[in-house]
Amino acid sequence: MSKIIINTEQASYPVIIGESNLSQVPAVLKKHKLFNNLFIVIDENVSKYHLSYIKSVFSKHDGRIIYEIFPSGEKYKSDTQIKKIYSALLNNKFSRDTTLIAIGGGVTGDIAGYAAATYMRGIQLVHIPTTLLAMIDSSIGGKTAINFNKRKNVIGVFYNPQLVFIDTMFLASLPGKEIDSALGELIKYGLLSNKEFYNFLIKNIVKIKSLNKNVINKTITESIKIKAGVVSQDEFEKKGIRKILNLGHTFAHAIESELGFRIKHGEAVAAGIICALFLSTKVGLLSSSRINELLLLAGTIHFPRIIQKMNNQRIYKAMQSDKKNVNGKILFVIISDIGKIVVDVPASKNDILYSLNKMKDFCFV
Ligand SMILES: NC(=O)c1ccc[n+]([C@@H]2O[C@H](COP(=O)([O-])OP(=O)(O)OC[C@H]3O[C@@H](n4cnc5c(N)ncnc54)[C@H](O)[C@@H]3O)[C@@H](O)[C@H]2O)c1
Repeated sequence: MSKIIINTEQASYPVIIGESNLSQVPAVLKKHKLFNNLFIVIDENVSKYHLSYIKSVFSKHDGRIIYEIFPSGEKYKSDTQIKKIYSALLNNKFSRDTTLIAIGGGVTGDIAGYAAATYMRGIQLVHIPTTLLAMIDSSIGGKTAINFNKRKNVIGVFYNPQLVFIDTMFLASLPGKEIDSALGELIKYGLLSNKEFYNFLIKNIVKIKSLNKNVINKTITESIKIKAGVVSQDEFEKKGIRKILNLGHTFAHAIESELGFRIKHGEAVAAGIICALFLSTKVGLLSSSRINELLLLAGTIHFPRIIQKMNNQRIYKAMQSDKKNVNGKILFVIISDIGKIVVDVPASKNDILYSLNKMKDFCFV
C-alpha cells in the first residue's frame, strides 16, 4: 500500500492506494479515530458485484453500520436522491457522531459527499472510489455537488473527506466503457502535467485499458499527485490555479446538460478537451503543428454518435449559464503546450461553434 497526503488550507488527509487492501479499512478507520457509527452508501452496481465481500470486511468493525444502496447513473445525482439519503440518516437516528462512507464512482462520491457536508452541518466522510475516474479525480479535492434543473453541479459545497481509500481490485468489475470514460480526465492530467507523464500515458494506453497492474498503479498515483499539487495551492478555486482543472469542462458541462446526461461525464470531458484544443489554435495560442500530438490520447477514445448529432447552437446556449461565467462572459481554459495553460479566456460565439464543429470532425472521421 502507498500513501499520499493531501494538504490544503482547511485540511490534511491521506489517500491510501493498494490492491486487494479493502480488508484493512476497519483498522484504518480506527487508527484515524473516526466515529464508529457508519452510514455506508454503495453504488448499486458495486453492490451487485461486491456487497457480500464489503459486508464481510465491515463485519470486523465494532460499531453500528447501515448500508444504503444508491441507484446508478448521473440522473440520480439529484435533489430527490439527496432527500432519500437525509431521510435514511434521520430514520436510522444518525447524529453528528457519524462517518459516512461513499463506495462508488464519482456520482456516488459527489452526492454522498454533499450529504455528509450538509447533514447536521457536517459529518465525517470517507471516500472509497470504485471507478478509475473516481480514483484519479473525483474522490480528491473536496468538491461535492448535485445537478439541479438539468444543470450540472450547480448545487454543492467544498467538503474534504477524512480519508480516501483506494482498492484497485474494484476495477476488475468495471465495464470497459467506464475505463474509456476515465480517459477524459486522464487526458486532462496528461496535458496539465509534463511531457514525461503525457508520453507515459500515450505509451501505455493499451495497458491502461487492459488494467495492467503496474501501469494502473502509476497512472492513479501520478494523477492524484498532480491534483493534490493544484488543490493544495488553491483549495477553493479563488486564485485561478485550480481553474486549470477545468480544461475542457465548459464545453463538457454544456454538452452533458444539452444531452440530458445521456452520455458519460468522461466522454463529455474528452470531447470538451478536444474542443478546447481547437479553440486554442483558433485564438492563436496553440500552433497547428503541435495540436496533432496533443490530440493523440483523445484519438484513442470511441465517442458515442449522439455527440455528432447534438445541436451546437443549443450547446452554446447552455454555456451561457455556466457557473464559471463572469459578467455574462463564457470563460475557457486553453493551452499552448503540455503544462502551459491559460485560464479565463473569453471566446466569440463563432470561435466556440468552430471548435464544436472541429471536435465532431475529429471524433467521427
Ligand atoms: N468532485 C469532483 O471533483 C469531480 C471530478 C470529476 C468528476 N466528477 C463527477 O463524477 C461523476 C462521474 O463519475 P464516474 O465516471 O465514476 O461515474 P459513475 O459514478 O456514474 O460510475 C459509472 C458507472 O460505473 C458503475 N460502477 C462504479 N463502480 C463500479 C465497479 N467497481 N464495478 C462495476 N460497475 C461500477 C456505476 O454504477 C455507473 O454505472 C460525474 O457526476 C462528475 O460530475 C466529480
